[in-house]
Amino acid sequence: MGLNVAVLANLKRNAPKYEGMPADAWADLDSDTTVNAITAALEAGGHRATFLEGNLSLVETLPKLKPDLCFNICEGHWGDSRESHVPAILEMLRVPYTASGVMTLALTLDKPMTKRVLAFHGLPTPAFQVFERADELLDPDLKFPLFVKPSREGTGMGVSGDSIVRDEAVLRARLTEQIARYQQPILAERFIRGREVTVGVVGNLTGPVAWRMPADEQAERVFQGLRFLPPLEVDFAQYPESEGGVYTNRMKTEWADDFRYLCPAPLEPGLVQQLNWLTAAVFRVTGCVDVARVDFRLDADDGDRPYILEVNPLPGLYPGLSDLVLEAEAAGIPYDSLINAILDAARTRLGF
Ligand SMILES: Nc1ncnc2c1ncn2[C@@H]1O[C@H](COP(=O)(O)OP(=O)(O)OP(=O)(O)O)[C@@H](O)[C@H]1O
Ligand SMILES: [Mg+2]
Repeated sequence: MGLNVAVLANLKRNAPKYEGMPADAWADLDSDTTVNAITAALEAGGHRATFLEGNLSLVETLPKLKPDLCFNICEGHWGDSRESHVPAILEMLRVPYTASGVMTLALTLDKPMTKRVLAFHGLPTPAFQVFERADELLDPDLKFPLFVKPSREGTGMGVSGDSIVRDEAVLRARLTEQIARYQQPILAERFIRGREVTVGVVGNLTGPVAWRMPADEQAERVFQGLRFLPPLEVDFAQYPESEGGVYTNRMKTEWADDFRYLCPAPLEPGLVQQLNWLTAAVFRVTGCVDVARVDFRLDADDGDRPYILEVNPLPGLYPGLSDLVLEAEAAGIPYDSLINAILDAARTRLGF
């Protein structure tokens, strides 16, 4: 039966303006194109869909609309846990929603915190150090080149060819600049030279209890209930050297209309299986539900060994452009079906 769905997003054009805004402020917020496409997809799926801006106005707009379910893609505006704000409001109003909850969204927005959880579970993520000040003592175990990026941003904000730093003087300069610009701790990771792939997944774990890595279980049981999309590889050969072989902010914004990628990525079946297993493990230990996308680098200096860079529990859904959408297309899943698959995953999980 068709549902009354509220599509919740933070539109770039509704974003607050403030003094001293960096040029890339709100780069991770959504466009009318995305919201209209999601709304149309849900309607094609037999539902009634209404867009509402995801801010405090929800306290008034939601009780009027009385949705059965919210399709949430809000990135939030302010603070260290901004992606979790709208879900927190929804839980207080007791309105169910698609995709991950308050804790997972707060955790995964924070890359260092997420890396600590992954490391605790023995999942491979590059060695790192977090800098709150540019002059903090450098961990002697951390070897150059390093990769420097903000702890809590997305859409490649703060990521360019210059994020790769090869000595301490450049590291200090970059840290000074990034701390001033993004007003948050800056992450320095071992630079993983090599190919880049991202794996999208829709569904929910139905196998062994979540939150625990069932090391003794058979591989299939670990990812039971999840539908893996084919891995997408960024085709760095098609980009100028200035981008440094990384997936930069420029590639994700200015050049997004002409994204160069390979999907399905030309990988050995064994490696795809390994990436899927790692994706399921990340989904599990970070408590994701319904949908996620996990970003990897394959270490060219260590036989393409995969490293987890981050998990995106609210992956971009721009029609025809976002990684997850392209992966779905490569699997023969049109946009409308992808959106309804996310909704259906939530419905099954919620029991209606
Ligand atoms: N340790 C690393 N080694 C090599 N490249 C890296 C490393 N960390 C990040 N990168 C490059 O920077 C890009 C952006 O990093 P990351 O995925 O962490 O940030 P993001 O801005 O949150 O991305 P998204 O747009 O997926 O939200 C990666 O896709 C990768 O190309
Ligand atoms: Mg990423």
